[in-house]
Amino acid sequence: MKNNLLQLRETARQEISATKNLTELENIQIKYFGRKDGVLNVLLKSLKDLSPEAKKEVGQLANQVKVELEESLAKQKTILEKEDIASTLEQDRIDVTLPAIAPKKGSLNPTTLVQNELEDIFKSLGFMVLDGPELESDYYNFEALNIPEHHPARDMQDTFYIKGLAKNEKRVLRTHTSPVQVRAMQKYGAPLRAVAPGRVFRYEASDVSHDHTFYQLEGIMIDENISITNLIAVMKTLLRGILKRDVKVRLRPGFFPFVEPGFELDINCLICGGTGCSVCKQSGWVELLPCGMMHPSVLRAGNIDPEKYSGFAFGLGLTRLVMMKYGIDDIRLLNSGDLRFLKQF
Ligand code: PHE
Repeated sequence: MKNNLLQLRETARQEISATKNLTELENIQIKYFGRKDGVLNVLLKSLKDLSPEAKKEVGQLANQVKVELEESLAKQKTILEKEDIASTLEQDRIDVTLPAIAPKKGSLNPTTLVQNELEDIFKSLGFMVLDGPELESDYYNFEALNIPEHHPARDMQDTFYIKGLAKNEKRVLRTHTSPVQVRAMQKYGAPLRAVAPGRVFRYEASDVSHDHTFYQLEGIMIDENISITNLIAVMKTLLRGILKRDVKVRLRPGFFPFVEPGFELDINCLICGGTGCSVCKQSGWVELLPCGMMHPSVLRAGNIDPEKYSGFAFGLGLTRLVMMKYGIDDIRLLNSGDLRFLKQF
């Protein structure tokens, strides 16, 4: 009996220290101390068959073994618990020196990028940045700009005419940003420096250089003694600021009913370098900046006295400029929503 106990103590110790995790340890505990058929209990039950002296002696030894084993179990438990925490920590380890995963950012349409840049340039020159309605009245889009109802100049711009809400009310999708000229003068008077970037619409078939929807940036500068010299100076500052390089320009006379004299400022085609391509229609030049001195009738429509004030106006082809700046050879990409295109900016 005594030997049995000592033998049991030895194997139990070995088994306890051999456990590798808490579950194994728990199983060992049940094996030896389990209430019903734990090895130790079974052994103790057989004490009743012994003589009183032997019972006392073996009983004491049994108790001692029990206490010893309980201690071993507790010790092993602490060891295994520590290991368990350590391995959890090891698995959850964070390398705080790793660079963070950057959140996915969208990007701006190249038109917006260039528009923002232009606004900054003009703000630095003291211009206000204005907005105007895309659904415009016939009056602001044409009449106030010296283009009366049956004037052939209306044919210069293919127009989306929209039925107004009231009878005889005429609306158009603005064909240019020029209606903002008169709106601005009526609102702010003279002297005045303002630009108005925005979307414009033309009823025309689309190809690589034409779209029904594109962007312009209108500009006006009105004060006493404003001349063509001021116009040229501002245009040069603008082109240098946005293209960040010297480009060849040329001025041609151009007809627009709301300016007199009127010009077309062309720039050397940046897509082909001037040798001729589909964007510049093989001419080597791209019409970029129609401009001129504001017509007295237009100033008057804006309640400004043409005897006292003069001004210049320009209508920058924002979409064209974007194409030139980034070398985009198909205008239709800009409004396509094609992510393969847009992600490049
Ligand atoms: N609004 C004209 C167009 O879209 C451009 C323009 C603006 C011309 C201002 C002269 C002055 O064709």
